[in-house]
Amino acid sequence: MHDSRETFPRRAFVTGYPVKHSRSPLIHRHWLERLGLAGNYTRQEVDPAEFAGFISRLKSGESGFIGGNVTIPHKELAFQLADRPDALSEELGAANTLWLDEGELHATNTDGYGFLANLDALAPGWDRADRAVVLGAGGASRAIIQAVRDRGVGEIHVLNRTVPRARELADRFGPRVHAHAMDALAEVLSGAGLFINTTSLGMEGEPAPDFDFSPLAPGAVVTDIVYVPLVTPILHQAQKQGFATVDGLGMLLHQAVPGFEKWFGVRPQVDAALRAVVLADM
Ligand code: ATR
Repeated sequence: MHDSRETFPRRAFVTGYPVKHSRSPLIHRHWLERLGLAGNYTRQEVDPAEFAGFISRLKSGESGFIGGNVTIPHKELAFQLADRPDALSEELGAANTLWLDEGELHATNTDGYGFLANLDALAPGWDRADRAVVLGAGGASRAIIQAVRDRGVGEIHVLNRTVPRARELADRFGPRVHAHAMDALAEVLSGAGLFINTTSLGMEGEPAPDFDFSPLAPGAVVTDIVYVPLVTPILHQAQKQGFATVDGLGMLLHQAVPGFEKWFGVRPQVDAALRAVVLADM
């Protein structure tokens, strides 16, 4: 059921501060056009001091939106201001997708879903890994650790430059999640079936790390949430050492699916055409 006060065509947004670099409008407009739906999806740059007011106009129906995506720095406040955050966003304390239903504001976090759906599509069987290694302990790392844990991977080792942040995640996500300093990499890679970079290392203009992936288990998958460049130094190194790799662009595309379905009522496809649209903009 959609909100009874909604107006047509359905209107959704992405809000952040700044938000001009968000590729979400490209993705949602592509789907709207492909599916022939009467809707629109716009950027809404909202200063943090104005965010509570923005949400209050969303809830009252005054803004005319039926929901939207939330990006940095509003994800925590979006979760706090929602009437009905789901269990995923509750555990993360952050939401990236909002929708109105019967006058109540629902919230979830689809980053973990996007991460898993991308791996399922491009590296099926990855979840047979007994051990995963996650580099980084920021917002993206949280959602990914939650998703990988919920999928049943036995041990998850989180390495971070600032070790207390990794420890906070290990405490939050339970006994299967272990925190380390970066220099534990060789040790924790031993026998791991999945390596995930969630840091900006190797992003265009950032330092390129030089990792040795040889301790990984045979058949291990290496993935990076950085997607500019598409083949990051981390993925390049893993390929050279004979491991399967999955780039980060698919996570961005898949995380958009649940929101689009909530707002516009159709589950859209992540396919080569969508990937090409986003790649052409990079
Ligand atoms: P996101 O929402 O993308 O996860 P974030 O919350 O700012 O962004 O987290 C960035 C992550 O990248 C953190 O794990 C950060 O490490 P710190 O917690 O020590 O800051 C990591 N990171 C960023 N630049 C890094 C660098 N040059 N070397 C190592 N780690 C880095």
